[in-house]
Amino acid sequence: MSTTAHSDLGSIDLADPRVWDGGPPYALFKRLQREDPVHFSPQRSAPEEGGFWSITRFDDVRAVSRDHKTFSSEKRGIFHFDDIGVPLDIQRLQMISMDPPRHDRLKALVIKAFTPQRVAEHEAHIRQIIGHVLDGVADKKQFDLVAEVARPIPARVIGSFLGTPPEDDAKLVYWTNVFTAFEDPAIREQWSDTAAIVTEVIEYVNGLIEQRRQNPQDDLITALMNAEVDGEKLNELELATFFILLMSAGNDSTRATYSATMLELLRNPELLAQLREKPELIDAAVEEGLRCYPAFAFMARAATRDVEMHGKTIKEGDRVLLWYLASNRDETAFDNPDTFDITRPGLADKHQAFGGRGRHFCLGANLARLELKLWIEQTLKRFPDLQLDGEPTRVRALFLNQYNSIPVRRTS
Ligand code: HEM
Repeated sequence: MSTTAHSDLGSIDLADPRVWDGGPPYALFKRLQREDPVHFSPQRSAPEEGGFWSITRFDDVRAVSRDHKTFSSEKRGIFHFDDIGVPLDIQRLQMISMDPPRHDRLKALVIKAFTPQRVAEHEAHIRQIIGHVLDGVADKKQFDLVAEVARPIPARVIGSFLGTPPEDDAKLVYWTNVFTAFEDPAIREQWSDTAAIVTEVIEYVNGLIEQRRQNPQDDLITALMNAEVDGEKLNELELATFFILLMSAGNDSTRATYSATMLELLRNPELLAQLREKPELIDAAVEEGLRCYPAFAFMARAATRDVEMHGKTIKEGDRVLLWYLASNRDETAFDNPDTFDITRPGLADKHQAFGGRGRHFCLGANLARLELKLWIEQTLKRFPDLQLDGEPTRVRALFLNQYNSIPVRRTS
């Protein structure tokens, strides 16, 4: 179908921070879906990076995600910048920025640890981690839901999968922020240090490996250090970048979804009442949280050849952003897409928070679902009187759909 962009849409630059001043531009995304489904943004704020195409329709996000031959993750990585402070060559050592066949071989090394059955074995421990963190704020009248609850829980959960000790959690969260919140001005100032952090991570992972040589454990570090791909062990840089991927993907993601879902519930007492009356709706609340507030606003691909879509020519090498933030609210895929509706049927199979069901579909989806369910359930049970206590603030980053702070208070 050929689409002619409405003239004012043609001048819109989705990378312009002013477009995001009032939060994600959902109304603009709706117009793009209807009038300009393959839209070009020049990314004027970073001219050296060039522009990007935006894919916003649900069906198009799925089609592009499934066509890894035309839309590569490896050519230019998954961000809207080539230069995130870590060169593309190093980014490409992570399977998320790789194409098949190497991507598939690396994913096979870890996928068994994240099946529903294996994840379910961690349930008691995850409950314990959540309980411990909630205990830490139980005596406070006021606290910050992001800093004091949403940050430490996923850090410890993924740390326990990897095999890192609890005392290192804060350092690992800091490292992952440097890699994924690279647009944040406070982080950007440290760009020159990013290479130094890669060296620190290599040293850190080498230390973990040395400990496991003496004392093997049933954890992901042990699995990775023993794994072979095409008959070869992973080298120290490959191990360190794999570690960073699992740490960042495990941290940023559930932290963001928990925070946004809790905020939605705190702002809508009728939803809370619905959940109290029918606790079995908790799974639906998790899915609706994932759909309405995908943790990653998009993942990028780059065209491997010139390709026509909706009357536009995407040139070889052009960057293409798959906006889950938009596709999860596509009115052709979901009725009343802007309504957080925990009675919506058949949702789990449909939304694209975990990707458009291509080769890169989220490795941690089963873990994220279990973690979010236990976590939201326990928060509501422990703090039935929780209320918002000020304006939440958002992380200013195109890629991360995240809150920095959600002040809350207890009324009893
Ligand atoms: C709310 C939670 C989460 C969300 C919304 C989320 C979302 C995503 C998305 C959108 C992708 C890319 C899909 C694509 O490009 O097609 C992805 C990939 C990935 N996720 Fe998650 N994720 C979450 C939790 C986790 C957790 C807890 C882990 C822990 C290990 C994890 C590990 C990964 C990895 C390793 C990849 C790369 C997979 C590949 O390249 O094949 N994610 N995730």
